[in-house]
Amino acid sequence: MANKILTPAQIAYLQLLDVPVPEGLATRALPATLQQKEAAATRKRSADLSSVDFMADIPVLSAEAPLAEEPSRHNDLTKGKSSSEILVPPSPGESSQQERAERISRMDWPLLEASIHACRACSLGESRQHAVVGAGTRPGPWLFVGEAPGAEEDRRGEAFVGRGGQLLDAMLGAMGLSRQEQVYIANVLKCRPPQNRDPLGPEVHACLPFLQRQIALLQPRIIVALGRFAAQSLLQNAEPLANLRGTVQRYDSIPLIVTYHPAYLLRNPIEKRKVWEDLKLALQTYADLPQGREASASATE
Ligand code: URA
Repeated sequence: MANKILTPAQIAYLQLLDVPVPEGLATRALPATLQQKEAAATRKRSADLSSVDFMADIPVLSAEAPLAEEPSRHNDLTKGKSSSEILVPPSPGESSQQERAERISRMDWPLLEASIHACRACSLGESRQHAVVGAGTRPGPWLFVGEAPGAEEDRRGEAFVGRGGQLLDAMLGAMGLSRQEQVYIANVLKCRPPQNRDPLGPEVHACLPFLQRQIALLQPRIIVALGRFAAQSLLQNAEPLANLRGTVQRYDSIPLIVTYHPAYLLRNPIEKRKVWEDLKLALQTYADLPQGREASASATE
């Protein structure tokens, strides 16, 4: 019988399922045509991703454990509400909100940052220690969007620096990415909600123009929405996360992949396989973009 040969993706899949790869099932060397080289780069990234357990060094949390420095985000104040209830506050002040959004949509980075730090558009401006603009590389082809700063982020003024941030960094590392290059990380809300409660509709409505302007300035090639709030806020719908995962969504024309929030994953590590599938979809989607292909190919040279 001819020797069976596994592709990197097949080996990755076996590893993901904790199935030992039998000795002798070698990886086939890929022919060096441009198209195959690009595909190989994508598969290599997926294989690298699968061979790394991005949660290996991250202590997981019991579902009941209080988590001082990370949002619980599960009190679901907005669950079951329509997108208009979530995203649109009552009409008084609507025209000035509109004007404010338009003003923000014309800002450059320095003005945008200053405006975020000075913002008092909702009550979170009073309770925060620091507004958190974002973290990472600007411009970056990859944009990861979380929900809102937690306690540690509020203290330090930087996005995703608590336990969820550690896990996010591990996820990025497994993808061959890092916030030092290629990746920018932002949140829907720039200020921490007290007691880590879910963002409220008027808070999202007041803050979203900042994120929208960040996206316009960054011009990312791809967006990864971390959790339900980020996904629903960016997509302006009230679809459950389960309905949004697994297919490529769009923010304007930018591909958007939805996955679980790292804080949720810390409590539910069993879901890491689903997250891994989402991250692979993101890598594949990126590799399929014209510029993503070039980046992918040159990364292997
Ligand atoms: N969770 C988020 O959504 N964003 C942060 O910056 C930190 C925790």
